[in-house]
Amino acid sequence: MTKTIIVTGGAGFIGSNFIFYMIDKHPDYRFICLDKLTYAGNLSTLTPIMDKPNFRFVKADICDRTAVFNLFEEEKPDVVVNFAAESHVDRSIENPGVFLETNIMGTAVMMDACRKYGIERYHQVSTDEVYGDLPIDKPELLFTEMTPIHTSSPYSASKASADLLVLAYHRTFGVPITISRCSNNYGPYQFPEKLIPLMIANALNDKSLPVYGEGLNVRDWLYVDDHCKAIDLIIHNGRVGEVYNIGGHNEMRNIDIVKLICGALGKPESLITYVTDRKGHDMRYAIDPTKIHNELGWLPETNFADGIKLTIDWYVNNRPWWQEIISGDYQYYYERMYGNR
Ligand code: NAD
Ligand code: DAU
Repeated sequence: MTKTIIVTGGAGFIGSNFIFYMIDKHPDYRFICLDKLTYAGNLSTLTPIMDKPNFRFVKADICDRTAVFNLFEEEKPDVVVNFAAESHVDRSIENPGVFLETNIMGTAVMMDACRKYGIERYHQVSTDEVYGDLPIDKPELLFTEMTPIHTSSPYSASKASADLLVLAYHRTFGVPITISRCSNNYGPYQFPEKLIPLMIANALNDKSLPVYGEGLNVRDWLYVDDHCKAIDLIIHNGRVGEVYNIGGHNEMRNIDIVKLICGALGKPESLITYVTDRKGHDMRYAIDPTKIHNELGWLPETNFADGIKLTIDWYVNNRPWWQEIISGDYQYYYERMYGNR
């Protein structure tokens, strides 16, 4: 049966990969991408699908109640997948306000629209960062869906607040929701402020590679397509009111990733520079994905060796996409963030 799906934040990294995956997998569905096109949104990313008859792009802010309600009135969506967010931890440390606005108030507007117009499913794309961090010396500890919320940054606090709001709208108003909490994604179209694309872009430009602290923090990396597949499964078969963790049992230290990128690009490790650590820096993230595996049969399909090769090749072969970004306002960001670090 056909469906109309609103994807918010679809001009960003994961949202665009999700639309590409879904439009291919469900050619009979209609997709509406609602995106404010902040610094992180890139309309050119969506060029390959812009003219498809089952795709529509709408430039709007999820905090804009009138715009969101008008879109629901017009499109009568069956499903909403909310990717739209301010997503970068360092920026949340610099300026928390916009994170509270978009991530919390924007989610509230989306929930109100779902409540007013009725919906088959609202899916909130959340993050493993809502659980805080884990110690390095206890590798047996993993985040499960029962792990208490315990946030560290304004970003993760805003995402956790949104999760609580979504759960409250389910319990109080019966809005049919699901939530996913995924670990670190990597892949094509990731904005070069995040670790992997930043290091690839800098290495290709023979610029220094700024590793925070000693580079010993651990992240659980997942290829973006595997995240998209998990969300597809959850919106179709996930149980209403449930939270699903998504992660690939692929824990790696930052320094090992950066060295791997140097090796793959034939660049010297002498480019690596240790810089002042991020404030409140979470030490380790690690997801237990047993629930989504047992209930929905999800397993990651791309191992890290293949995924990082695909990703590096993509950045090598799509220089205009990221060069355009780093030649603009990004330079001011880079100077503010790394200039005196
Ligand atoms: P991103 O920063 O690349 O993209 C965010 C998109 O949202 C952009 O297109 C931006 O224009 C849009 N947006 C921002 N504010 C908006 C607003 N007020 N109204 C409408 N659109 C707005 O982010 P991403 O890395 O693709 O992350 C997408 C979602 O997944 C986020 O909710 C993030 O918290 C979550 N998440 C990300 C990761 C990761 O590793 N990147 C992992 C787990 C969860
Ligand atoms: O875990 C999921 C989260 O992963 C998502 O919710 C966030 O939206 C996403 O940005 C990501 O958060 P991180 O803070 O883990 O990702 P980031 O790429 O910013 O950093 C990854 C690690 O690399 C972290 O330990 C900080 C470090 N780092 C990052 C940058 C940008 C560096 O050492 N140097 C850098 O220049």
